[in-house]
Amino acid sequence: MDHSKIEKNVGLLAVLTAVAISFGGLAEIVPLMFQAQTIQPVPGLKPPAALELAGRDVYVREGCYNCHSQMVRTLSFETQRYGAYSVAGESVYDHPFLWGSKRTGPDLARVGGRYSDDWHRVHLVNARDVVPESNMPGYPWLANAPVDPDEIQAHMRGLRAIGDPYTDADIASVGSAVIGKTELDALVAYLQSLGKHAPKE
Ligand code: HEC
Repeated sequence: MDHSKIEKNVGLLAVLTAVAISFGGLAEIVPLMFQAQTIQPVPGLKPPAALELAGRDVYVREGCYNCHSQMVRTLSFETQRYGAYSVAGESVYDHPFLWGSKRTGPDLARVGGRYSDDWHRVHLVNARDVVPESNMPGYPWLANAPVDPDEIQAHMRGLRAIGDPYTDADIASVGSAVIGKTELDALVAYLQSLGKHAPKE
């Protein structure tokens, strides 16, 4: 077709532009959906255990991702500060992923094991008690909110439906895993699990 015809017909130009851009996007994105490196879990990775999953739900509900990313970039000043850079295989069971794009606070992808459980408890209730200059909000109500086992079981069944390898035994044992636990316990367990399967530097 003559180029001048396309350029004089704005509707046709828009359609053909959309086709051209979509093709470029597909050619870049689709192969990633089939590459082992991006879709296979890193060695040892399991979907979050009951209490960790409950904590992850709290993390999402409270919007922690508005201030914290969970993705260490490949730049040396990041790996020196946080540890090994993040790889796609670590996020296979992240639904939705929590990579984030805003860092009012530090990246949390490698925070597991950096502090004690007690430090996290104090910090989450009132960050200024351990980091005087902190502007992180306090979450004192988490200490009084019980974890609801039915909700976690339903969540696990949902995740299993989309392919996460939870077993019947995992789902049946939720009640005993979260009995007497608060949302604060759950969030601390989740934070301590972050980066457990990070690639060795
Ligand atoms: C308004 C922004 C903001 C929000 C929302 C926020 N944080 Fe923070 N967070 C910070 C800042 C700033 C710091 C650094 C100062 C400090 O340690 O308190 C921090 C530090 C942390 C640290 C210590 C990290 C390290 O490596 O020292 C953890 C863990 C943490 N936050 C978890 C959470 C969790 C979990 C939530 C949600 C319940 C949350 N934060 C919500 C701003 C925020």
